[in-house]
Amino acid sequence: MERAVRHLQCSERHARGKTGDSFRFAGVGAGVGGLAMRVWWRDGVIYQVYPRSFQDSNGDGAGDLNGILSRLDYLVSLGVDAVWISPIYPSPMADFGYDVAHYTGVDPLFGTIDDFDALLAGVHARGLKLILDFVPNHTSDQHPRFLESRSARDNPKRDWYLWRAAAADGGPPNNWMSNFGGSAWTWDEVTQQYYYHSFLKEQPDLNWRNPEVKAAAFDAMRFWLDKGVDGFRMDVLWLLIKDDQFRSNPPNPEYRGGNSFWSVLPKYTADQPETHAIVREMRALLDSYGDRVLIGEIYLPVADLVKYYGDTPHLAGAQMPFNFHLILNAWDAGSIAELIRTYESALPPGAWPNWVLGNHDQHRLATRIGAAQARVAAVLLLTLRGTPTLYYGDELGMPDARIAPGDVQDPAEKNQPGFGLGRDPERSPMLWENRENAGFTLSGVKTWLPLAWDWPQYTVETQHADPRSMLALYRALLKLRRSSSALVGGSVEDVRGADGALSYLRAQAGERVQMHLNLTGEVRWVETLTGMVLLSSYLDGEGFEIGGWVKLRAGEGIVVKVF
Ligand code: GLC
Repeated sequence: MERAVRHLQCSERHARGKTGDSFRFAGVGAGVGGLAMRVWWRDGVIYQVYPRSFQDSNGDGAGDLNGILSRLDYLVSLGVDAVWISPIYPSPMADFGYDVAHYTGVDPLFGTIDDFDALLAGVHARGLKLILDFVPNHTSDQHPRFLESRSARDNPKRDWYLWRAAAADGGPPNNWMSNFGGSAWTWDEVTQQYYYHSFLKEQPDLNWRNPEVKAAAFDAMRFWLDKGVDGFRMDVLWLLIKDDQFRSNPPNPEYRGGNSFWSVLPKYTADQPETHAIVREMRALLDSYGDRVLIGEIYLPVADLVKYYGDTPHLAGAQMPFNFHLILNAWDAGSIAELIRTYESALPPGAWPNWVLGNHDQHRLATRIGAAQARVAAVLLLTLRGTPTLYYGDELGMPDARIAPGDVQDPAEKNQPGFGLGRDPERSPMLWENRENAGFTLSGVKTWLPLAWDWPQYTVETQHADPRSMLALYRALLKLRRSSSALVGGSVEDVRGADGALSYLRAQAGERVQMHLNLTGEVRWVETLTGMVLLSSYLDGEGFEIGGWVKLRAGEGIVVKVF
């Protein structure tokens, strides 16, 4: 299904990579991943919290910072290392916080700046890290700087945004399209020009060719870094710069309807070469604070994505250009094996991989591939080479919520109804306890989005009591990963995918761990090295020896410690 943020998505054919037999990718240097040299963002696991939906502390039906604080011990018990929180800044909420009206504050819906300080202290007191979402590409149309910019053509802030004259026919200056449908240009009556917005008209794009824009964004980043925030997830990092000649995008010959964004190819509106210099400057700012991480939201084919690490040997770009290809790829063993090989082969020397299986813009994992396969996907995410990012609720196997027409919140759905572009289903409240509103908010309160259908089976409470639940599987996998330097930092080799079964080996300093994953709903036979089963995704036995041809049950994933 085509999604709102599929703008971002690329129809990539993975180049035929090396064969499984010869394939081997090592860590980024001697000892990397070795527990003696821990680097938190490389060796840890990131957990994404969508703050409206995690925990409500004040009974208004939407989550908030105090709510997150009250649930930090759950994250510790789960075994993750860092929390990334989607935007919490003051916002009219046209795009639920991705329309920022003030970069150095907290929206009253989420709490106060004091609540933020308490949350950050609580995170750090538990040995966790906190990553904020930063939205550099656009502001809210209610941001004071946009209000100034739109007030007059000669306003000093005019050039902070992208203003253009109408085309000869009075229409938009070119054919650039909004990710949420329709032209990306909106006419301003007062000053008789168009302004550009990659997303909603309430989200005007900043002009990153203007040094004052960059300086202001960097000041805002410093505000949070000075507080001790451990890094940023940079929203739509690859969209920051647009063609300086404002050339029209070429038509998309493959467009067959759906999101009108895709009627043209974003040749002049995405991944412009000048973006990399800005990414390097962002990274330098973070590095000046020490141990901080720069993560980029980037939906690009692998070959273009990996350029966001920066040039070798310095890799002065983002430490983690988010790799969404497991979400975009078919759920098929052969093509996932090819994806792993292609991605690993494309990484510049010394670059550290990362993998994502879900986020607030994509249908829930359990809905995309089914409940049974979501278990084997958990094994994949947590045993591949690279930092995993886990989306809240996926550890419960939460499916998409069903959203009745009257409950739709997301502008991506409202703007272009009927194409399945809405992202509300994957943003439904976290399921905690077996009481009204699943403990997400007080009883009697209407939650901002409905809970998932048949939710009691997914709650933390239900699953905590079940030793074979999805939650138990995530806990076991996170524990296993933490205890194994091969899984944290070892090479990945021998990647094979055939007939629905995916296998790969992770190795480091004499420790070898082999994974065998059955990506089908039927029995599969795989050939394994001799070793001991450390974990089966069925959670019904471990510690026994296997070797040679072994049977995997439907949707079973096993982790084998090789002798
Ligand atoms: C990113 C966010 C998405 C948002 C968009 C516009 O893609 O992940 O939720 O709508 O940016 O800010």
